Amino acid sequence: MKASSSARRKKSFSSSQATRISAKKSSTTSAKAWAGRFTEPTNALVERFTTSLPIDRQLFEYDIQGSMAHCQTLEKAKVLSKAECQQLIRGLTRVRSELREGRFPFTDSDEDIHMVVERRLTELIGPLGGKLHTGRSRNDQVTLDLRLYLREQLQVLHGKIHAVQAAFVQQASQHINTFIPGYTHLQRAQPVSLAHHFLAYVEMLERDKARIADALRRVNVMPLGSGALAGSNYPTDRTFTAKLLNFPALSQNSLDAVSDRDYVVEVLNVLSLIMMHLSRLSEELIVWSSQEFSFVELPDGFCTGSSMMPQKKNPDVPELIRGKTGRVYGHLVTLLTTLKGLPLSYNRDLQEDKEPLFDALQTVLDSLSLYAGLIQRMTVRKERVAEAVGSGFLLATELADYLVQEGVPFREAHSIVGRLVQTCIKQKQELGDVSLDDLRTISPRFTKKALNFLTVEGAVDRKAQIGGTARKQVARQLKTWEQRLKKRPSM
Ligand code: ARG
Repeated sequence: MKASSSARRKKSFSSSQATRISAKKSSTTSAKAWAGRFTEPTNALVERFTTSLPIDRQLFEYDIQGSMAHCQTLEKAKVLSKAECQQLIRGLTRVRSELREGRFPFTDSDEDIHMVVERRLTELIGPLGGKLHTGRSRNDQVTLDLRLYLREQLQVLHGKIHAVQAAFVQQASQHINTFIPGYTHLQRAQPVSLAHHFLAYVEMLERDKARIADALRRVNVMPLGSGALAGSNYPTDRTFTAKLLNFPALSQNSLDAVSDRDYVVEVLNVLSLIMMHLSRLSEELIVWSSQEFSFVELPDGFCTGSSMMPQKKNPDVPELIRGKTGRVYGHLVTLLTTLKGLPLSYNRDLQEDKEPLFDALQTVLDSLSLYAGLIQRMTVRKERVAEAVGSGFLLATELADYLVQEGVPFREAHSIVGRLVQTCIKQKQELGDVSLDDLRTISPRFTKKALNFLTVEGAVDRKAQIGGTARKQVARQLKTWEQRLKKRPSM
């Protein structure tokens, strides 16, 4: 037992010498910060498989921002002298410039953005760089970076939703008096103001904004000081760090803080719902821009043509947004699945959080930017819409409600008008074509007044309670939205 453990020690000593030699030999790799405990260099495929640098390098601004606050916290705790802190911060500023200007010397063995920044810092300022990571782990560092990043991205997202809402409100202001067939089951149902239809999307998007603001409350929590999992041995003032980084709250349990990715799931959930809304909008625009409907004309700059059929103008942008919705849902499920089997606290699986998050965010931000432009520039084909609203028995419910006004129970009124519609269909007539005599053949309860109920304007304006499509109501809603959206978008 004794002999074998001393043999192991001997073997390990000579192998670690081998590591040092091989690390020196390679010009593109540098020794890992954690190489001390290892007896051979990392396998090349392992390096490629475990690196997160291609993904997390976009976090560099936040990584450096967090590191600067960490230095100041270490200084306050008297772990660093004032001069050391200043030197570290100056070094970090230089590293940041190199990264910003695209002249940062990456090497093949760089593992992630956190290690890369520290390596370069040490190259630039010498062994003092090695003090940066005192009392910190990449486990609390990475979640800090992600929270700083998300905080900013959620603001951007909020602003982009605001822009789409503004485009819809602008369109709505042009179309209070444009009446379209409202649909249920994609069958003509009742006429509505087109402005009312546009404002429905503004409502949906407002809920998305509310969900962003809610998610932000849980993103906006400062995890640094949790160390690898248990906290840190240094008397760092975490409240001070939080203040420096403008966090309103501190994580209260180090184990939870390094393993928590709920906030990423929440953001992916918000993103999925936004895409679901945009996908439903896409479906509508695809249908509405078809020759069969022809309710809207999409701007040429947002459509593409066919390589074979010269006449084609395709709604590719709405189609792709509808298509990419699956991709964003996929990212949500990816992360939920990654998390479901993880014991406390940090596990490397967590590294898989960033790729789906970044891709989902980019997809949603692009989709929103595209829709802000497309909606603003889309034109409504008023003649086509007027034609559509004039046929298809959209006013049948009005007639039934007229009969109710005359004292007929609704169920009976429904049946009378149902028979009328059936007769019209047989005689190839629309409701607008029927005379009082025709009505009275179906039921003696009809009087001359019934004909007044057969106008689209009347049908729309009778829905006059809060939330209804009456023009007065829609104008009121529109005004409210114009007021609300006038304010600069902020959470
Ligand atoms: N790159 C990792 C991530 O994105 C952070 C590194 C944590 N590594 C570790 N060995 N604890 O989550």
